Amino acid sequence: MNNAVAGFSKLSKKEKISWIANEYFSNPEEALAIIRNYWNSDEKLQQLHDEFIENTITNLYIPLGVAPNFLINGKYKTIPMAIEESSVVAAASKSAKYWATRGGFKATIINTEKIGQVHFTYNGDSQKLADFFTNIKPKFFSDTQSITKNMQQRGGGILDIELRDKRNLLENYFQLHATFETKDSMGANFINSCLEQFATTLKTEAQNAGLDLEVVMSILSNYVPNCIVRAEVSCNVEDLTEKHIPNPHDFAARFVQAVQIAEVEPFRAVTHNKGIMNGVDAVILATGNDFRAVEAGVHAYAARNGQYSSLSHAKIENGIFTFSLEIPLALGTVGGLTSLHPLVKLCLEILEKPSAEELMQIVAVAGLAQNFAALRSLTTTGIQEGHMKMHLNNIINQFEATDEERNLIKLHFKKNVVSHSAVVEFIQNLRK
Ligand code: MEV
Repeated sequence: MNNAVAGFSKLSKKEKISWIANEYFSNPEEALAIIRNYWNSDEKLQQLHDEFIENTITNLYIPLGVAPNFLINGKYKTIPMAIEESSVVAAASKSAKYWATRGGFKATIINTEKIGQVHFTYNGDSQKLADFFTNIKPKFFSDTQSITKNMQQRGGGILDIELRDKRNLLENYFQLHATFETKDSMGANFINSCLEQFATTLKTEAQNAGLDLEVVMSILSNYVPNCIVRAEVSCNVEDLTEKHIPNPHDFAARFVQAVQIAEVEPFRAVTHNKGIMNGVDAVILATGNDFRAVEAGVHAYAARNGQYSSLSHAKIENGIFTFSLEIPLALGTVGGLTSLHPLVKLCLEILEKPSAEELMQIVAVAGLAQNFAALRSLTTTGIQEGHMKMHLNNIINQFEATDEERNLIKLHFKKNVVSHSAVVEFIQNLRK
């Protein structure tokens, strides 16, 4: 079968779906039924979702859960999380409850600077370019005034523009490296519009000055090492109680060791940080933010010292256990999907309409809570016990168990170790 198609984007939604169903399924009707089953019955709402992207055929559901009882800077929050992994919301809730009785989470904004660059080549005397840049620098600001006006009213705007000589990396390579404050918006559109205007100004002025300069591209950077939030929990070591390890000092020591391993060993660091991102991404998705941007930036930050390392740190000092996380987060609570997607709006209301800085704090806390839950399990029972308990529902659903079977399975595995094969065997025995 030839699966290539010309002019697909110009087909109607109905035509696109029937092409997919006929091209890839031996039973097209069955495929069509599944696709339609996930359409929203409210046509206007479905159209809204259709128009978020190109070639929409249906919607892919991801569960939206909430983790309550998060005490953050003295205030309780219920955190919405969109995620498909069984144990994540349960783990977040468990951590929230644990720390609520030990002073809660503290979160602080370290800085909020965003970055964008115009990449260009210049073949000539670098001093001449530096003088040219100093001369025309005010023009970058004046030429972008129509773009920056509203942002300035909100207290943001362009912070600075630097000329950077990058010829040690690539022949004739220079940059305009610009920094921005974008307040409650993530700022991608604002930054990219400013940068494209910088590029136009640069080209025009270079031509007037007779400089041999060519712009390659203009784009924001998703690496934001000066847009950092810190989340922390701490308590007396005596209060770090854990039912599987009788002495809190032993639990604290083992926990710190687990973090130290992630600090020095990249294979462990990646999984350790993945656990943090379980919490971070779930809140980012629920609040309509760009999780790919955050993922890329966070992992670059984790490798900033030349080796990929843990994003969180733990210590015991003067009888106090402290566990903390610092991550770069470029988030928005206005613009983008935030006022467009009804569920995103709802999630932001559950969070009591946070500013971007407040959302950064909430997201970092969710990441730290997730990391605490994972390390607590890993250093005591192992993760499989809790993980498989949560995964039990998925296995039951896979076997389309009846209500009666479901009750019997749940009763049995309350006291027995859950594994895929044990559940399958139990179901098969039931059905004999
Ligand atoms: C699973 O999604 C996340 C963990 O592997 C994280 C970790 O190992 O720290 C449990």
